[in-house]
Amino acid sequence: MSHAAFAYLPLASQPDSVSAMKLQLQIIIVSTRPGRVGPSIARWFHEFATRHGKFEPVLVDLADFDLPLYDEPHHPRLQKYTKEHTKRWSASVATGDAYVFVTPEYNFCPPPPFGNALQYLYHEWNYKPCGFVSYGGVSGGMRAVQLEKQLATALKMMPMPEGVAVPMISQHFDAQKNFVTNDLIDSAARVLLDELHKWAQALKPMRAAHQEAVRVSAVG
Ligand SMILES: Cc1cc2nc3c(=O)[nH]c(=O)nc-3n(C[C@H](O)[C@H](O)[C@H](O)COP(=O)(O)O)c2cc1C
Repeated sequence: MSHAAFAYLPLASQPDSVSAMKLQLQIIIVSTRPGRVGPSIARWFHEFATRHGKFEPVLVDLADFDLPLYDEPHHPRLQKYTKEHTKRWSASVATGDAYVFVTPEYNFCPPPPFGNALQYLYHEWNYKPCGFVSYGGVSGGMRAVQLEKQLATALKMMPMPEGVAVPMISQHFDAQKNFVTNDLIDSAARVLLDELHKWAQALKPMRAAHQEAVRVSAVG
């Protein structure tokens, strides 16, 4: 029997192999520009999430997908993807149960790759919680995050009010360009992961039902 078949059972009555499976958390590096600092911060969060232990964390770099400006002829709801880059991106996003976007802000706004990458897809994001690790100058990237949450909700993601915001990002790197945290950042990261995990568990039946409905409508 597939794991999806157990999705509606309360955790206690699921077979051990299913309840022990960790939900996948994708940590998505949003900045794609040469010289970006995003990957250092994302590597730290990935290690932090691994030690936290509740999720199976996976690092995803938007730069690896090399998405051009949105170039599909059909609405993403239809999943009639015509481009290889869209199919690859769809397959990657589809396996996530939750997302953390590691994001800077550009001119008080989300950086261009954020909106472009999210709008390539629709169902793949639905009924999944998301969180934000943001960074920048005094704002800690929070102005961008407020706008990013608006797009996330249109795609039926559930954005966490809790988040990690790092102001004065240039002061947070050591000589090897590793991201250096402090107690405040670590504690915000822990709270974010705890909250994300609660929501990712709670939304599991909705995700399963939705994915099945999408599969059936694609077949029929
Ligand atoms: C086009 C551009 C616009 C920026 N605008 C802002 C801004 O509005 N607020 C801010 O805090 N930092 C801003 N910055 C500074 C970024 O926080 C800083 O460059 C950071 O390293 C960007 O993240 P990245 O290196 O991962 O791309 C901007 C940087 C760029 C390249």
